[in-house]
Amino acid sequence: MQDLTTSSVTDAVLQQMSDTPDARLREVMASLVRHLHDFARDVKLTPDEWIMAIGFLTQVGQTCTPARQEFILLSDVLGLSALVNLLHDETASEIGTESSLLGPFYQQKAPDFALGDSIAVRASGPEIQLYGRVTDMQGTPVPGALIQIWQTDSQGVYDLQRHEGEQEIEHETRGNFRADDQGRFWFRSILPLGYEIPMDGPVGGLIRAQRRHGCRPAHIHFLIGAPGHRELVTALYLGDDQYIDSDAVFGVSRSLVVHPHNDPDAPLPGIPAIRYDFKLSAATEAGSHRVGADPAQTLTKTLAAE
Ligand code: BEZ
Ligand code: FE
Repeated sequence: MQDLTTSSVTDAVLQQMSDTPDARLREVMASLVRHLHDFARDVKLTPDEWIMAIGFLTQVGQTCTPARQEFILLSDVLGLSALVNLLHDETASEIGTESSLLGPFYQQKAPDFALGDSIAVRASGPEIQLYGRVTDMQGTPVPGALIQIWQTDSQGVYDLQRHEGEQEIEHETRGNFRADDQGRFWFRSILPLGYEIPMDGPVGGLIRAQRRHGCRPAHIHFLIGAPGHRELVTALYLGDDQYIDSDAVFGVSRSLVVHPHNDPDAPLPGIPAIRYDFKLSAATEAGSHRVGADPAQTLTKTLAAE
């Protein structure tokens, strides 16, 4: 029998967990317990604060649905998703285009378009065109790469938000393209507007308590994949947005900032253009390695008991 103290309790927990057969689970949980206990000692966590945190996390869980992932949102506003992205990029065999957050509005099901089409089917707003190439790190084109795109409309609203709760979502400013045989892509859209992250749940309450604005700068998401290449989850950010330097979820990096402009080399004359060439690094191992998921899929992943 041990007499527990504020420091020996940590070793007692580590001792009980030390026979965990899965080595990675053992490592992760041991580190988590050490940091969690250090955190509680550091801030001298009180019983009221502890129960408030339990209530908060309970609400975060209760806010999750097949269409909404409040835990990922919590991870986003704490910068954890951005950190996991950065750590993941460090494991690539080559440094390709930088990644960015997948966010909660990605959906696996989206309409297919032909090169040159507009993904703004019904939405209106100032037109833009996007074009460029998908290559590997040596500059060799990746023909047929699947390019999935989603963005807000010119009011800063995603189709999934506009049609929340509906059985069949009318997709808007979202769609899939295939790069041509030289790895090229080009399509039309409308200027997206930045937006506030979902603020009507517990994470929004935290953001307000911290006097943060909770806004993301305008951006266009890309998920690009091709066999033999590491899947690229990224986004292009509009440089003149007022929140470009204070993204609530820390997704912006300098290399992903763009400015639509008149470009004589663009395929569609007269429409402000964004040119961006995406570089895919070689695949390292199997698995998607996406930092994020279609919210409907996160509810099905659990720790399997052996
Ligand atoms: C988004 O880019 O859509 C997003 C990312 C993180 C939190 C909220 C929204
Ligand atoms: Fe987004």
